[in-house]
Amino acid sequence: MTNLRGYRASRVVTCDPKIANGSNELGVIENGVVVIDDARVAFVGRESDAPPVRNWTDCGERVITPGLIDAHTHACWAGSRHDEYVARMAGGDYRAIAAAGGGILSTHRAVMAASEDELVHQLTGRLSRMLRLGVTTCEVKSGYGLVADAELKQLRAIARASKMPNLPHIVPTFLALHAVPPGVDRDQYVASVVNETLPAVAREQLAQFVDAYIDANAFTAEQGRAIATAARAHGLGIRMHVGQFADIGGAELCADFSAASADHLEHIGDAGIERLAAAKTHAVLLPTASFLLRQAPPPIDKLRAAGIALVVASDANPGTAPTESLPLAMALAVRLYGLTPAEAILGATRNAANALRLGDRGVLASGNWADLCVWELPHEFAILQPWGVSRTERVVCSGIEDRARSRPSADMTTKASSPASRERESVTKSREGEGSRPPRKNPR
Ligand code: NIG
Ligand code: FE
Repeated sequence: MTNLRGYRASRVVTCDPKIANGSNELGVIENGVVVIDDARVAFVGRESDAPPVRNWTDCGERVITPGLIDAHTHACWAGSRHDEYVARMAGGDYRAIAAAGGGILSTHRAVMAASEDELVHQLTGRLSRMLRLGVTTCEVKSGYGLVADAELKQLRAIARASKMPNLPHIVPTFLALHAVPPGVDRDQYVASVVNETLPAVAREQLAQFVDAYIDANAFTAEQGRAIATAARAHGLGIRMHVGQFADIGGAELCADFSAASADHLEHIGDAGIERLAAAKTHAVLLPTASFLLRQAPPPIDKLRAAGIALVVASDANPGTAPTESLPLAMALAVRLYGLTPAEAILGATRNAANALRLGDRGVLASGNWADLCVWELPHEFAILQPWGVSRTERVVCSGIEDRARSRPSADMTTKASSPASRERESVTKSREGEGSRPPRKNPR
């Protein structure tokens, strides 16, 4: 146990249900410590109870949280939709632009033209910026390739990124039905995805989940059922885009298959809510997308009253959510959707982990991955305020610190660090300057 490293802070936000209670929903330990042993958490609690630690980092009057988990992104894409954005801001309609061959099909053309290397380059750039925003696990969907070869190209790019160091852990999702490629019959397309693309994805083990866009302007619940049936037959999890524009039975479909999550839900009826609650399917809220589309929020009070676990995700994509920022989505979840600050934080940590079926993160507890953020902020609720900027001071992913971000800000150094703690910090820094570590494999 000689390699133990510890972080002290005035607020350690564990998100651990075993520590949380009615007056401490986030399981905060004041003046707490997190001790890590290589890639795993070894101890969380009071320093007096901690095992012997050689290297301490004193974070002072700052907040430590679990690393954030972005449970819904389309981060693997190429091209730019700035022209479409300008047209939409001038009054153009998202669905009308899509129907005229823009929207998802515009990014489809760019992804078709891009090499796998180019997709890896674009994706890893986004993921490294997300890491600096505090994201240590990121779900990434395909869904712009549309035709089999290009979907596989996207998923292979995602798989390559998942083996690279200094990026968030990746959870790959095959977005099987997103749009129909030009010139292809809709029913034939669904059949080819079920019979050819999905089996190929499963054979190459390129996805953990399968997704489909079930909506009035997209695919029917019956088409989604064919995909979900095939996904289940191949042992893959299910999560779906549901009710973004209309309630056409997507929630009921998710419930029928005990889907891990139903995402969007701006338009969901009482029957769908009841079914999702009974199936214990998570609701993934995407406030950045509904903000951009000028939509009313989902029925949050009803979802909450039904006891459905709420997740907040970025939906990062070039059309409806032109951002890479999960903290921005959390801020909008509070401002636009009326989530409490604690709900927004749990929605991007513990609940997000559960929605991705990951039992080893999202909570700071021993045995979990050593994924954590040190925020240069005095309280966890302050994470919801500094819109548009990154306020992480340190991001630790599988025990590895993102050194590019590890610099105390001038205004907090004096207050945060005693001379003794500064010395301890310099010990930590010199240790960490030893050189790059070997590539980290993504945990599975
Ligand atoms: O989650 N609604 C479908 N898919 C994405 C948007 C994709 C795009 O416009 O490129 C979403 O909002
Ligand atoms: Fe999406």
